[in-house]
Amino acid sequence: MVESLNRILDLPVLLDGMPMVEAELTSAVAAEHPFVAEVSGHLHSSGGKRIRPTLVLLGATYGKGTDQRVVRAAAAVELIHQGSLYHDDVIDEADIRHNVESVNRRWDNVVAILGGDLLLGRASELSSLLGEEASNLLARTLSALVMGEMIEIAHLYRLDTDVTTYRRVVELKTASLLSTSCRVGAVVAGAPRLSIDALSRYGLEMGMAFQLADDVLDLVGDAAELGKPVGKDFCEGVYTMPILIGLTSARGGELREILADRPGPDAVGLLRDILDSVGAVDEALGAAAAHLEAARRALGELPAGPVTSALDELGRFLVERATPAR
Ligand code: IPE
Ligand code: IPE
Ligand code: MG
Ligand code: MG
Repeated sequence: MVESLNRILDLPVLLDGMPMVEAELTSAVAAEHPFVAEVSGHLHSSGGKRIRPTLVLLGATYGKGTDQRVVRAAAAVELIHQGSLYHDDVIDEADIRHNVESVNRRWDNVVAILGGDLLLGRASELSSLLGEEASNLLARTLSALVMGEMIEIAHLYRLDTDVTTYRRVVELKTASLLSTSCRVGAVVAGAPRLSIDALSRYGLEMGMAFQLADDVLDLVGDAAELGKPVGKDFCEGVYTMPILIGLTSARGGELREILADRPGPDAVGLLRDILDSVGAVDEALGAAAAHLEAARRALGELPAGPVTSALDELGRFLVERATPAR
């Protein structure tokens, strides 16, 4: 996954900039006490696509390019992401992330909550060095992300959840940070306002497409490739786009009965068959493709060049990784 992403994004700005971001991250997760260091570095050392810091570096090219503040901004968004994942894995009772035990599983929930808090604290230390506009943006984004997670848990197991609520959750919990990643790089690097706004729109639409595709993958993907089990969302009572579409389809009643029994992962095959038979998976992928198209329109407002093309490819890569699974 990371290799193919790097192939797409084989740009000098990333080849030069990402090692600097990694160094900043390594120092952010370091700690004097070995236990604290082990917990805070757990996700950092197990991998991840580093999409968000990549977007920061790319966004900065529309201004003055990479400097120390841009690198700090890139590390800050990744730390917000990783800190949220520590907490998300507690919320979702996840056992595995990146093919290794999640922090809550390796230790326990208390450790995962504190570890996540520490990463968010580190992110806020970096953020405070970025100037008012950027640090305010990062703070608002963290609030949005948390509100998204909260709305999601307010709707767990609710078969009356509508697509509008689901979309809002996706926007808050995922698209907001992807949009901010693009934006904050451009802000810190002093890019023109028109570029800052186009990048924000691109990030928001790409983020919607990304989470929609990720949710489809949770149903139709391959566990080994995903680094986490399939069917986790519905098992936890998170009903995503394909299921919400399925619930309003001709086989909605049947689906409702199955889900009302709160099935385990064994039901994934049956659910897939039903959702496929009513075209719900394709419709959800179609919704992701529509957001991707909107993201590409936003890119049309940016100067053409290798970075704008890379952003285009990145969006397509993130959505298309859900398509071959079909
Ligand atoms: C996972 O994000 C959570 C979602 C928003 C879908 P990523 O897929 O970017 O996470 P890593 O860091 O690459 O594992
Ligand atoms: C990702 O949500 C967490 C945040 C965006 C904060 P999910 O629960 O959908 O993501 P995975 O499937 O655990 O990566
Ligand atoms: Mg999760
Ligand atoms: Mg979750």
